[in-house]
Formats: sequence, structure tokens, C-alpha cells
Amino acid sequence: MKKKKEHWEDVYKKKTDNQVSWYQVVPATSLRLINELQLPLDSSIIDIGGGNSNFTIELQKMGYNNLCVLDISGLALMRTKEKMGDAANAVNWIESDVLDLNELNKYDVIHDRATFHFLTHEDDIKKYVDVVSDAMIKGGHLVISTFSLTGPEKCSNLQVSQYSFSKLSLLFKENFVLTSSFNEVHTSPYNTTQDFIFCVFTRL
Ligand SMILES: C[S@@+](CC[C@H](N)C(=O)[O-])C[C@H]1O[C@@H](n2cnc3c(N)ncnc32)[C@H](O)[C@@H]1O
Repeated sequence: MKKKKEHWEDVYKKKTDNQVSWYQVVPATSLRLINELQLPLDSSIIDIGGGNSNFTIELQKMGYNNLCVLDISGLALMRTKEKMGDAANAVNWIESDVLDLNELNKYDVIHDRATFHFLTHEDDIKKYVDVVSDAMIKGGHLVISTFSLTGPEKCSNLQVSQYSFSKLSLLFKENFVLTSSFNEVHTSPYNTTQDFIFCVFTRL
């Protein structure tokens, strides 16, 4: 079986934005949730598994100026940097497995859409919860979106985990309180649909 990094580099080598199911021209729900938090524009915001998402591009246009994108794929980061042009110089780019992120009390917001659900082993899931808990300031916000119980069982040829609101909340209950949650049906660029949940947690 291919290693995780190799798998994702291969995806971004072979597929354009419109050929991957998760692509959104405007990640409207994520942006709305950030807006609703009413944060100062210098809040530190990281997009975990940002990939080819336009989330950070749009946040920068809205005036946010302390942005970071982490992805295991260097090609994905490169693609987003190219879309941004010179504006990319103002963003912090981290090419890494999220499980290797080692930062303390750094972020006001951690955003993850469609990355966490690729973790399927209990130890990795626990590690992710620890990494995110450590990387966030107290009072910070975790905006996370995963496949729901009725969502796909596989994505990009990889097995995924599916979540209900309670299953996700239970994982984060030690350090986070759930502040909002809802379902969303995502329509892919080729008109298939995928059931997601969105949860916003606040760090205790
Ligand atoms: C389904 S895509 C979602 C991309 C983006 N978040 C979006 O909503 O459009 C998953 C992304 O997570 C990245 N990824 C997968 N596993 C990862 C890991 N363990 N650490 C960091 N990034 C990872 C992949 O390279 C890919 O860009």
C-alpha cells in the first residue's frame, strides 16, 4: 500500500481542482462560521489539510492577516500558492502530516474540512485530538467538518471514518465544548452529493 504522503502527492499530480470531489469554488460555510466568530483580523488561523481549498485565499481577501495552511502534500500547497501569487508570501505554509504538528498555544482558530476523517486508527485519532488541543489557545475555536454517518465510506480511494455530532463531541470532550453543529450536503464539481457534518468547538 502507498504511504500517506505518496498517495496525496499522486492525487494532486493527476487531478485538477474540478476532478476532486471535495473542491468548492467558495467554501461558503467555513467562511460564514469564521465570520460569525467575530474575531480580530490578526487572529491566528490554521487550515489543517488545506489542500487545494480556496478557504485561506478568501480569508486573506476578507482582511485576515495571520494565516497558516498545513498539508501533507507539497504539491497541494504549491497549487494554492500559485493561485495566490505574491499574496502567498504573507501566509505560513507547513508541509507536514498533521500528526507531526508540534505547536503550543499558537492558534485562535483551527479549521479542518475533510481531513480528520481520513484517520481511521484509534491511536491516530487520539493523537490528532492531542495535537489540536495543544496547538490552540484557551478560548480558541475548532471548526471541523467530516463525513456524516450517511456520508461516503471511502474518499480518494481511502477508507474514512464517519461521524455523528455525539461521536465527534465525545472525542473532544476533555478539552472542548461544542458550540454549534449542523449537517451539510456537499455537491461535488461533477454533481455527486456527499453528506457532511460541521461542528464548532471552543477550547476550555
Ligand atoms: C479531501 S482533501 C480536503 C481539502 C480541503 N480541506 C478542502 O476542504 O477542500 C484532504 C486533504 O488533507 C490532506 N491530508 C490528508 N491526510 C493528511 C494528514 N495526515 N496530514 C496533513 N494533511 C493531510 C490531503 O493532502 C488533502 O489535501
